[in-house]
Amino acid sequence: HSRTKEYKEKLLREFGRVLLDESSAFKSGSENPYNVQFDGVRQNFEDKSPQKLLCELKTTNINTLRRSDLPLESYLRPYLPKRSVFENKSFNSCVIVSSSGALYNSNLGKFIDSHDVVLRFNNAVTKNFEKDVGRKTTVRVLNSQVVSKQQFQFLTSSLYRNITIVAWDPSNYSSELEEWIRKPEYNLFENYIEHRKTIEKSRFYLVNPSSLWNLWRFLQSNSMNRLRRNPPSSGFLGLSLLLPLCEFVDLVEYIPSTRVTKRCHYYDAEENVACTFGVWHPLAAEKMMTYHMNIMNDTYVFQKGILRIPGFKKLNC
Ligand code: C5P
Repeated sequence: HSRTKEYKEKLLREFGRVLLDESSAFKSGSENPYNVQFDGVRQNFEDKSPQKLLCELKTTNINTLRRSDLPLESYLRPYLPKRSVFENKSFNSCVIVSSSGALYNSNLGKFIDSHDVVLRFNNAVTKNFEKDVGRKTTVRVLNSQVVSKQQFQFLTSSLYRNITIVAWDPSNYSSELEEWIRKPEYNLFENYIEHRKTIEKSRFYLVNPSSLWNLWRFLQSNSMNRLRRNPPSSGFLGLSLLLPLCEFVDLVEYIPSTRVTKRCHYYDAEENVACTFGVWHPLAAEKMMTYHMNIMNDTYVFQKGILRIPGFKKLNC
């Protein structure tokens, strides 16, 4: 018990330090590649109840594109689905499998597979890691590099078949949809169209890029520190996509348990602590806030690596 407490305090201090570092880098004029402008009020999430934060997140608009979002003349329009992902869907249990190195030797495979919905990221494989990460995949959240770069073999790899795919690519902070479609960061549209055209019953959705910035604003307006002006991680995006439809959402190794290592991913040997603590994404803020909204006890969080966030359906806002 006291070891959990000790570890927890050390970890939260570490996240706090990352947040402060980012914030002071901001003052000395950090990069702003997406031209993010924020002059809203910044509040401390710790001063708000988890319910209040969840209610704010509930009213944050997170959507995937539908045909009706684009003008008739747009070349992309015919390939978009009529409905957004999970529209009118409802599930009991959902789990988000972070790709963290700490999943290695976690033995969480059976726990993960017991959920109705299993969400994974990018090219995270399950083969040969079933004991730790399970074998079931319902949905994958992909960044636009995985969809577009040759090395990931998006159109041919079995990783991206027979599941729901939700891909995201950042736009500029205040750019219009059509501007983004003309000039995405990575060209994901070519393979998007090919997938929608050639794969029977393709369930491939694109996140409306303004949703990413809505989510970023949610984070910044609840953090006293200035955050890095980059989109939230796929992990936090996944959480915001599932909360409206699940009774609860479990996250494994999103807050790193005592198994934490320097390893970035459970499925390869690359060492990079920034994957866990965040450099490019406002990861530290996401994780601190997610921990604040969690209802599992500290032994679960820090020893087993499991967080649980109650879904929006039962929320009284
Ligand atoms: O690295 P990648 O983006 O594929 O990882 C997917 C998600 O898993 C990240 O967006 C992040 O939320 C989470 N992750 C993590 N800790 C790691 C690696 C990934 O929390 N060490």
